[in-house]
Amino acid sequence: MTYEVTVEPTGDVIEVEEGQTILDAAQRQGVWLPFACGHGTCGTCKITVTEGDVDVGEASSFALMDIERDEGVVLACCAIPESDLTIEADVDVDPDFLGHPVQDYQGVVTDIRDLSPTIKGLVLQLDDDIAFQAGQYVNLHIPGVEGTRAFSIASKPSEHRALELHVRLVPGGAATSYIHEQLAVGDTLKVSGPYGQFFTRKSDPRDVIFIAGGSGLSSPQSMILDLLEAGDPRQIYLFQGARNVSELYRRELFEELAQQHANFFYIPALNEPEDSDGWQGFQGFVHEAAQDYFDNKFNGYKAYLCGPPPMIDAAVTALIQGRLFERDIHMERFVTAA
Ligand code: FES
Repeated sequence: MTYEVTVEPTGDVIEVEEGQTILDAAQRQGVWLPFACGHGTCGTCKITVTEGDVDVGEASSFALMDIERDEGVVLACCAIPESDLTIEADVDVDPDFLGHPVQDYQGVVTDIRDLSPTIKGLVLQLDDDIAFQAGQYVNLHIPGVEGTRAFSIASKPSEHRALELHVRLVPGGAATSYIHEQLAVGDTLKVSGPYGQFFTRKSDPRDVIFIAGGSGLSSPQSMILDLLEAGDPRQIYLFQGARNVSELYRRELFEELAQQHANFFYIPALNEPEDSDGWQGFQGFVHEAAQDYFDNKFNGYKAYLCGPPPMIDAAVTALIQGRLFERDIHMERFVTAA
């Protein structure tokens, strides 16, 4: 059984299979609906059902209040149609969103290596081409682990078959422990994607600042490789934060890119360098490195932030204090998959 969901005001029609959520169907058909967490906790994907019957699913009471439920509001990531529906959504579609449909893939591990003491780099060879925008992510199904885990794609979109992912080991986390301790070259994982609304706004010609911390380097890596490959003329700045030199992974890649491209600038920052690191670069948090470099003046740039929530919060505050409008800051709060 398939239901038709008509999205107002765009008039898009989504075919939703029995038991499928509205958001999953929309993503697989390349229809824009706003979302963030994808599992009923953030409330970003609220839509209003104006006609038809729907099961609200596992929406948390924080994300969807009773009063909203009474008014026909549901979460697209949880709601399952029980008839044809008409919905109203805030479909302020970003003009740079390409809407590549989500698909399922089998990915064979062709490379797995230590990038830092806590981060593995993983390359998956897919059984079909994937189209994605730099900055987006895929979901992996890990054997023996319930549900899926999200990992941002670190490779560039022109590599349609080979996906590079960065996986930080979360102590006690079943999925990342499996990847770090058991996954081997030749193993196959189920992959779905692409997902996400973190991508480069290429139609905006302003120079760009990337601020990355933790294993949040993957999306910026893909976005930067993509821009440089296209010969993009804007100035591109990457601020990478890490604790010490051993955690400053992919440093050689970015140093090399900075030598090859006059419009790319790489500024690493360490907040706890070891004595043995002999660190001569910026010492402090990554947002402080950006403040120092730009003398606290960020107006006229576009900024992309990717990393753990405390890093993002500090960077947003610094950028806004430096007169960058909130609308020019795009971010991916990288809550590490366990
Ligand atoms: Fe977060 Fe649906 S996307 S609640």
